[in-house]
Amino acid sequence: MKRIAVIPGDGIGIDVTREAVKVMEASQKQFDLQLRIQQFDWGAERYLRDGVSMPAGGLDMLKNEFDAIFVGALGDPRIPDMRHAAEILLGMRFGLDLYANVRPVRLIHKKLTPLKDREEKDIQFVVFRENTEGAYVGMGGFFKKGTPDELAIQEEVHTRKGVERIIVYAFEYARQNSLKKVCMSDKSNVMRYGHDLWQRVFKEVGARYPEIESSHLYVDALTMQMIKNPAQFQVIVTNNMFGDIVTDLGAALQGGLGIAASGNINPEVTSMFEPVHGSAPKYAGKNVANPLGAILTTAMMFEHLGLSQASRRIEEAVKRSIEENFTTPDIGGKEGTRQVGDWVAGHLHAA
Ligand code: NAD
Ligand code: IPM
Ligand code: MN
Repeated sequence: MKRIAVIPGDGIGIDVTREAVKVMEASQKQFDLQLRIQQFDWGAERYLRDGVSMPAGGLDMLKNEFDAIFVGALGDPRIPDMRHAAEILLGMRFGLDLYANVRPVRLIHKKLTPLKDREEKDIQFVVFRENTEGAYVGMGGFFKKGTPDELAIQEEVHTRKGVERIIVYAFEYARQNSLKKVCMSDKSNVMRYGHDLWQRVFKEVGARYPEIESSHLYVDALTMQMIKNPAQFQVIVTNNMFGDIVTDLGAALQGGLGIAASGNINPEVTSMFEPVHGSAPKYAGKNVANPLGAILTTAMMFEHLGLSQASRRIEEAVKRSIEENFTTPDIGGKEGTRQVGDWVAGHLHAA
């Protein structure tokens, strides 16, 4: 039995999660899986209603009672300080210590990339984003706030242990998948302390993987190279903030935010899976959001849970929906969110 906690969240998170759950349930029937899917209403509505973002004991419940967590998206313009989103989303990433944010950049069909003259084989890599420290730790403060002399400080935190485990995770992924290259990206020419630690740890860990070529790019150069020659990359490893930024660029390379998937992983505990996109409030409830990112995220979650056949069939069905243009307008089709979800759920049988 695999127990899956589902948190649709806000905005289009709710729309795309409905389709992802549809595909989970169809997989359950098609492949005779033992799933127990339980939904939680954590998000903006509940927070505005009763002030609760993540209920007391929420993290322990997820950790002890579930094998995986699926999240739609969090963010609502009525809560401009993002308090509830931070407490729920970052709450899970930090609270469950989900240190590896795994964000594949895979071009499923060449018509989806905005780059000219690039094929599927040219855009196939994975970004490993450190997910528990860096600029996201929320350390800092204001001095003389609201006065002309105001001062604001926001610290980055990099620990030896945190940097090492994400770099090891990236090299292990490369080794296990017979990949030959790992590129680390930072801004160590300017960030002379935190990113210097990344430099030293990367060299040290890389030496333990002599069959894998280690390379380095400053993050500004990385963004340029991702556009100019994406085929050079197999594995990219970087810090929390840079990983956030370059994976939106990675999403664009593969067809847009609507189809990019991700996992927040710690192999020791319950991991969390979410599409890369946010809650896109202006599209919420309009049956226009692309559900394929959420559906590919479901495939990633199934693979993580050892349900490999179901995972592979979901990916194949998504590929066919793209080949047949049975997609939402953001990637060139004319269908609605629900119609695409129905199509994928109905095409899980072998081709
Ligand atoms: P966003 O990803 O929500 O949307 C940016 C744009 O990308 C949209 O306007 C739309 O054009 C396109 N897009 C995104 N997802 C799509 C989909 N499934 N189908 C079709 N088009 C899609 O980013 P934003 O506008 O910067 O943020 C909106 C809110 O979401 C904010 O509150 C932000 O903090 C939050 N957010 C949450 C997450 C998350 O929960 N993991 C991620 C990113 C942003
Ligand atoms: C993402 C999002 C989040 C992040 C926000 C909503 C906190 O942009 O998952 O990519 O910055 O990590
Ligand atoms: Mn982001």
